Amino acid sequence: MACFKSLVLLALGISSCSAAILNNVAELNKLRLTFDFIVLEGGTAGNVVANRLSENPTHKVLVLEAGGSNEDVMEIIVPGYCTRTSPNTAQSWNYTTTPQTALNDRVLIYPRGFVLGGTSSINYMNYARGSKEDFDRIAKVLGDEGWSWDSLMPYRFKNERFNLQTQDNHNITGEFDPKYHGFNGINTVSLPGFPTPIDNRTLKAMTESTEFPFVLDMNSGFPLGVGYGQTTIKNGSRSSSATSYLAPQFVSRPNLHVLLNAHVTRVLETGPGVFRGVEFVGNLNGPTLHLTAEKGIILAAGSVETPNMLLHSGIGNSSTLKALGIKPLHNLPSVGQNLTDHTLAFLSFMVNSDNTWETAERNTTMALEEFAQWNATRTGPLVDFPGSLFGWVRADLEGKFPDPAAGPNTPHYQLIIGNGFFGPPPATGNFMSILPALVAPTARGSITINSSDPLAPPIINPNQLGTASDVFVMRQALKGILRFASLPAWSDYIISPVGINFNSTDDELDAYIREASVAAYHTVGSASMSPRGASWGVLDPDLRVKGLTGLRIVDLSVLPHIPSADTQATAYAIAEKAADLIKESWGYL
Ligand SMILES: Cc1cc2nc3c(=O)[nH]c(=O)nc-3n(C[C@H](O)[C@H](O)[C@H](O)COP(=O)(O)OP(=O)(O)OC[C@H]3O[C@@H](n4cnc5c(N)ncnc54)[C@H](O)[C@@H]3O)c2cc1C
Ligand SMILES: *[C@@H]1O[C@H](CO)[C@@H](O)[C@H](O)[C@H]1NC(C)=O
Ligand SMILES: *[C@@H]1O[C@H](CO)[C@@H](O)[C@H](O)[C@H]1NC(C)=O
Ligand SMILES: *[C@@H]1O[C@H](CO)[C@@H](O)[C@H](O)[C@H]1NC(C)=O
Ligand SMILES: *[C@@H]1O[C@H](CO)[C@@H](O)[C@H](O)[C@H]1NC(C)=O
Ligand SMILES: *[C@@H]1O[C@H](CO)[C@@H](O)[C@H](O)[C@H]1NC(C)=O
Ligand SMILES: *[C@@H]1O[C@H](CO)[C@@H](O)[C@H](O)[C@H]1NC(C)=O
Ligand SMILES: *[C@@H]1O[C@H](CO)[C@@H](O)[C@H](O)[C@H]1NC(C)=O
Ligand SMILES: *[C@@H]1O[C@H](CO)[C@@H](O)[C@H](O)[C@H]1NC(C)=O
Ligand SMILES: *[C@@H]1O[C@H](CO)[C@@H](O)[C@H](O)[C@H]1NC(C)=O
Ligand SMILES: *[C@@H]1O[C@H](CO)[C@@H](O)[C@H](O)[C@H]1NC(C)=O
Repeated sequence: MACFKSLVLLALGISSCSAAILNNVAELNKLRLTFDFIVLEGGTAGNVVANRLSENPTHKVLVLEAGGSNEDVMEIIVPGYCTRTSPNTAQSWNYTTTPQTALNDRVLIYPRGFVLGGTSSINYMNYARGSKEDFDRIAKVLGDEGWSWDSLMPYRFKNERFNLQTQDNHNITGEFDPKYHGFNGINTVSLPGFPTPIDNRTLKAMTESTEFPFVLDMNSGFPLGVGYGQTTIKNGSRSSSATSYLAPQFVSRPNLHVLLNAHVTRVLETGPGVFRGVEFVGNLNGPTLHLTAEKGIILAAGSVETPNMLLHSGIGNSSTLKALGIKPLHNLPSVGQNLTDHTLAFLSFMVNSDNTWETAERNTTMALEEFAQWNATRTGPLVDFPGSLFGWVRADLEGKFPDPAAGPNTPHYQLIIGNGFFGPPPATGNFMSILPALVAPTARGSITINSSDPLAPPIINPNQLGTASDVFVMRQALKGILRFASLPAWSDYIISPVGINFNSTDDELDAYIREASVAAYHTVGSASMSPRGASWGVLDPDLRVKGLTGLRIVDLSVLPHIPSADTQATAYAIAEKAADLIKESWGYL
């Protein structure tokens, strides 16, 4: 069901543009408003902060977002179409990476959301928090208990509205543990609503090996095992920060305005060491505009654009900025450094079945029937992300490398199990996928610039599999998956792996990894927090830019270490915490 791009999408005709969402600068100018807080960008984290700060009716909040509206875009709304939201769509920044040395110098696509909701509007919706040890390590590095797993738990609950009813109304006892979930938050999290034909085999395989045990709830802080995925889906449709935190009851607040199609170019110094100004263009050929926030700027442009924007604003390594002809205003050499991402390797198996995604992908009638079912009742195969069970597994390091994970209860790799071929399928045959994702990488990359033009794309180097340890763990992950696929539960189902064999040598597996790996787009760390007074880092643990007033960063770039899981759940938790930090500093928590 994932990738049949040829199908003509049928619009639903739901249109309800809220008054406070403005499409162009002229509409904003007409209102002659001033703002206490300007949130730079309506992405995953930005919309949370905008919502929470505007709870106080005396605080006037403006969000500037480069992309357009998320409404009525079927690729975004229908979960089963999520793999079509990027790349090279109207809702995506069309970035690519530098040639990746460890991946045979391949240039990778590197999409990010370019639409209200940011990357939460185009991602694959998996809701995974990582391990307790991930966050306890971050708290320890920062010397600030406020970033520990337990301290962030109330913010995860503030974000989450766990949905107890699945789209197929099945009994969900035994698929999750309610004590780890929030039921009164803003963003809906659901269990799978359409069982896939391979789920029962996956569950059986788990009973056949101690290496892949069942885990009741992978979001408890102790994720190791294979269990039911949780996704940001509400009644069969995507729940993004735009549909949840900017839902009509919030965006109708008279003190909250959102301006779309506003491309921010710089944050501006408004006094010595004070950054409360913003420069943006309403359209790429239009005039440059300026606004000043009375209280503060919240930069939430994501791990790629936040460091890019800081550098163009003169905040970064002063000698590199000077060499580019950008006036250095504040020397912070860590800006753009230490970027970290996960790596995903494609791995498919030819199977003995005709009930896989390929069947509908090759049959337009069936694909249209699936859409009609979704459209009429929000049921059927399109209500879910393509896949329902996930695993979190530790690799045997064989004493060769120090443990790259945050601790012994933290995974090295993720299993993403799907009932078909990820990507355009071969012309014939039916498939299943078990993709490994390296979730405990040691390589660090960077965001740099080579131009003084703020509209030029940044240079993105995620340095995928950039250390010997990362390649080794990925090879151990492939071997683990081959063991999993050899369990008796699959014996009459899996015919053979595609691209490798069950008995491939280490060299063959490494060659496969270098060709079949791509970025996981879980980018963090490029404008990281560090302890107060540290000689490295960009932010203090309260998310303020070191040495400056008026500017905080609230997105995934702030993390000094990557969590061992997909990242959106953490973006939401960071943003909920940030909103409290900001409220507290203005005396109203
Ligand atoms: C294809 C894909 C699939 C993914 N799947 C998953 C998944 O299943 N589960 C998961 O947890 N995570 C997933 N992720 C990652 C996750 O969605 C992101 O890590 C997270 O949403 C990032 O949040 P953020 O707030 O840091 O940034 P974003 O949500 O990217 O927000 C940044 C916002 O800033 C705007 N912006 C940037 N530059 C400018 C500018 N100059 N001017 C104005 N506006 C600007 C952008 O348009 C965007 O709206 C996926 C990512 C991708 C790309
Ligand atoms: C990405 O490419 C698509 C298709 O060409 C285009 O519509 C979109 O505007 C591009 N995104 C950006 C941020 O330029
Ligand atoms: C769901 O299943 C559990 C355990 O199998 C059972 O105790 C419970 O009564 C069931 N709930 C409903 C609503 O049927
Ligand atoms: C999986 O097994 C359960 C219990 O045996 C059964 O009720 C269910 O229909 C099976 N699901 C599928 C998709 O075959
Ligand atoms: C700043 O960049 C220069 C190269 O332009 C580099 O030599 C120097 O080490 C960097 N400074 C720091 C502190 O990283
Ligand atoms: C990268 O992060 C490490 C801590 O994980 C820190 O010691 C180092 O100084 C950072 N490098 C830069 C350039 O910020
Ligand atoms: C395509 O799907 C339709 C509807 O499910 C079905 O009737 C038809 O037989 C299928 N066509 C082929 C070639 O399998
Ligand atoms: C989708 O549903 C709407 C009504 O909610 C209807 O007008 C439209 O025709 C439906 N489209 C399809 C393809 O079923
Ligand atoms: C889910 O969506 C369907 C189709 O639009 C609607 O009929 C139903 O009432 C919705 N259910 C909930 C719980 O909102
Ligand atoms: C910047 O790098 C890009 C590729 O990353 C290249 O196309 C461009 O020419 C470079 N620009 C300058 C001014 O060096
Ligand atoms: C490896 O496995 C393949 C089938 O998966 C088989 O054809 C081949 O003979 C095996 N090679 C060795 C050296 O065992």
